[in-house]
Amino acid sequence: MITEEIRRVAELMEPGGAIVVLTGAGISAESGVPTFRGPGGLWRQFRAEDLATPEAFARDPKLVWEWYDWRRGLIAKVEPNPGHRTLARWEARFPEFVLVTQNIDGLHARAGSKRIIELHGNIWKTRCPEEGLVADNAEVPLKAIPPACPSCGAMLRPHIVWFGEPLDPADINQAWAASSRCRLMFIVGTSAVVHPAASLPALAGRAGAQIIEINPEPTPLSPYANFSFRGKAGEILPLLDETLSKISTG
Ligand code: OAD
Repeated sequence: MITEEIRRVAELMEPGGAIVVLTGAGISAESGVPTFRGPGGLWRQFRAEDLATPEAFARDPKLVWEWYDWRRGLIAKVEPNPGHRTLARWEARFPEFVLVTQNIDGLHARAGSKRIIELHGNIWKTRCPEEGLVADNAEVPLKAIPPACPSCGAMLRPHIVWFGEPLDPADINQAWAASSRCRLMFIVGTSAVVHPAASLPALAGRAGAQIIEINPEPTPLSPYANFSFRGKAGEILPLLDETLSKISTG
């Protein structure tokens, strides 16, 4: 059954209108990737200070790499879900579509999305702290922990933004620019507590965009959303897509 609210949002998705989608760990939950703060979430089992800060890496790089190697193993076994796939279809459908994700799991790309701003990096990439070289690395499990730079031998680090580190200015600038000129902003599967990602919807809202949240739980951004769908991304996004197709075929 198509709810009235789904239909209203689908009607707002005009072919030429700029759309930004901000995703978080919740969109990958239905694929089987643990979130950070929900039940079974990573930050309920592990201390971020021990594993996801530059200080933790300086103290014990092997421990940090082992944790990322374990997560890579989990992610390698799962598949993108209908939520990821819907967003990949929207990129093809809307010329002005920007996907901004806090996720590092690479599932948006595996679903077919091509233009992705990965604000927090990517678990399938390494970075050489000496030369700054970012490289793809799909080894599961990693052959050597910690891995070494093939060019200079330095110890590689995950290409991930840790707590206390700034985002890549190119990424956040692009995300800011897209958010401040979009007509619609979808906030999907994020607890909206980590900034600057969680500030993007406010920017969009101030510029007059309609804000649509998809999350089974309320978040600090819920009071500012024009539409709140309390459901799973893998169900609501395909439902919106189906409705969109019905509307456009008359
Ligand atoms: P969180 O774990 O904080 O939040 C996940 C959100 O997804 C929660 O609000 C859930 O209610 C929601 N959720 C769960 N299942 C869902 C589903 N099927 N469909 C839609 N929503 C669902 O994850 P993030 O908000 O992504 O940063 O966390 C932000 C950042 O904090 C992460 O990028 C990571 C973490 O520390 C870094 O690693 C730098």
